[in-house]
Amino acid sequence: FNVPKAFNEPVKSYAPGSKEREDVLKAFKELYQSTVDIPLYIGGEQIKTGNTKKLFPPFDHQHHLGVYHTADKGLVEKAISSALEARQKWSEMAWEHRASIFLKAAELLAGPYRAKINAATMIAQGKTVHQAEIDSACEFIDFLRYNVQYMTEIYAQQPASSEGIWNRLEHRPLEGFVYAITPFNFTAISGNLPSCVALMGNVVVWKPAATQIYSANVIVEVFKKAGLPDGVINVVYGDSGMITDTILSNENFAGIHFTGSTGVFNDFWATIGKNIHKYKTYPRIVGETGGKDFVWAHPSSDAKEVATALSRGAFEYQGQKCSAASRAYIPSSIWNDVKKYVIEDLKTFKLGSPEDFTNFMSAVISESSFDKLAKAIDEAKASNEAEIITGGNYDKSKGWFIEPTVIVTTNPKYDTMERELFGPVLTIYVYEDAKWEESLTLVDETSTYALTGAIFSQDRYAIELATKKLVNAAGNFYINDKPTGAVVGQQPFGGARASGTNDKAGSVLNLLRWVSPRTIKETF
Ligand code: ALA
Repeated sequence: FNVPKAFNEPVKSYAPGSKEREDVLKAFKELYQSTVDIPLYIGGEQIKTGNTKKLFPPFDHQHHLGVYHTADKGLVEKAISSALEARQKWSEMAWEHRASIFLKAAELLAGPYRAKINAATMIAQGKTVHQAEIDSACEFIDFLRYNVQYMTEIYAQQPASSEGIWNRLEHRPLEGFVYAITPFNFTAISGNLPSCVALMGNVVVWKPAATQIYSANVIVEVFKKAGLPDGVINVVYGDSGMITDTILSNENFAGIHFTGSTGVFNDFWATIGKNIHKYKTYPRIVGETGGKDFVWAHPSSDAKEVATALSRGAFEYQGQKCSAASRAYIPSSIWNDVKKYVIEDLKTFKLGSPEDFTNFMSAVISESSFDKLAKAIDEAKASNEAEIITGGNYDKSKGWFIEPTVIVTTNPKYDTMERELFGPVLTIYVYEDAKWEESLTLVDETSTYALTGAIFSQDRYAIELATKKLVNAAGNFYINDKPTGAVVGQQPFGGARASGTNDKAGSVLNLLRWVSPRTIKETF
C-alpha cells in the first residue's frame, strides 16, 4: 500500500515576533469581533431551523459569539437517512480516495486553517495558544495522517491460502450508520471520532458537545473543503436526550464512537441493550469516559521532577484534560520540597483570556463545572481531613475562573481523591516512606477509573513493583513523566475500568472496530 509515511506535525512556538503568532492573533481578533450563525449540516446542506442557542467564551460570559441552530426529531431522522443514502457510494469508494480526502484535511489544518482552528479552540474552549496548538493543530493532524497508515495495515491483514484455494478478508464498513458523540476538551478528539469512522468507509451522524460547537463548525468547513462528499458526516446540535433516543432506536444504528462522561456512556449501554432486538447488526460500542488520574512518587524520586509533573499535569488547560493528574501520593521524606516547588510554580500561573499569551490558564468550561469545583473547594475548606495549601479562590464575575488549587488530605479516600472533578483541583495524600508498597494498593483501589497514571522513582525495583501492582490502574502508564500529552503514533490513548472500552484512539485497535470483515474462500 503506497501512502505517504505518517509523521507528527511539529509544534509551533508562537514566540514574540513569529509569523504564527501574528496569524493566530489576527484570527482571534477577527473571530472575536464577528458573530457566527452556525447551521446544522445534513446531507451537505446547511440548515437553519430558527431554534437557536447562544454561544459565549468561558472566560467572558458577557461576550456574545453568535448562535447555533438546533435540530428537532425530524431533522435527526433526516441526518440518518442522508447518511444511509451517502453510504451507497461512499462504502464502495476505493480506499485511496477516502484516504486522500482526510490527508488533504490534514494539510489544510497544517497550513491555511491552522490559525483559524487554533483561534476558535482558544475562544470556545478557553485554551492558551500552546494548548490549542498541541490539540486542534498537531494532534488532529496526527490523527488524520496516522489513521490512513493504520487503515492500510488493517487492509494488509490477510489469511493464508493453500493449493487450489485463495482465502481473503474483505474489510467491509459496518452495515448501517455510526453515531459520534464528542467532548469539549479536545478539538482533535472531536475531529477524530467521526473522521476515523468515515475513513474506514462508514457514514456518520455526529453530535459535538454544545460547548465545542464553535470550533466543530471549523472542522466541518475543513472536511467540506477537503472534498468530503455530502452525507458522509452529518452534524446535528440540540437536545441530547432526543437526539440520542432517535438514533439509538433506529434499526440501522451500527455503532457509537463516544468520548464523554461515564454516566452518559452507561446510559447508552442500557438503552442499546434494551433496543438490541431492533438492530440489523450488533452495534460496536466504543467509548472513552471519565478519569481520576494519579501521580505516585517513590521515596527515591526527584522532588523537582515530581513537582513539575504535578503543576503541569494537573493544571495545564485548567485540569480539563481527560489525562490530567488529579490525585497524588507523595512520600513524607520529599514532601516539603515537592510542596515548596509546586507552590512556587503555581504562583507564576496567571489566569485570564487566552488572547494574552502571558496567561498560563483560563476559565473552566461552564457554570455547572465552576459550581461543582467551587463546592468541592468550600467543602475542603470546611473539612478537618483536608487543608488547602495554595489557591482556593474562585470568581465568576467575568468568566468561570477557578484558581489552581491544591488540597492536602490526611484521608487517602477523601472525597476528592476518588471523585472526578475535571478542573484545576489537585488532591495530595502524603504517606510514610516505609509504607510505599501499601500506598500502591491505595492508588489501585481508591478510584473506579483507570485512564492515565504516572509513577516517579529512581529505584528500578520500585519501578518494576509499581508497574506490576498497578497493571490495571491505567491504560496510559508513565514512568518518570507527567500523565498528560500522549502523542498519536507514539502513545495510543485510552483506559479500561470506568474509563472506557480502551480501544486506543489513534491506533489500529480503534480502526478495527469500524470494519466488519468478510472472509472469502475461493476454490479453483
Ligand atoms: N493526548 C491527550 C493527552 O494525553 C489526550 O493529554
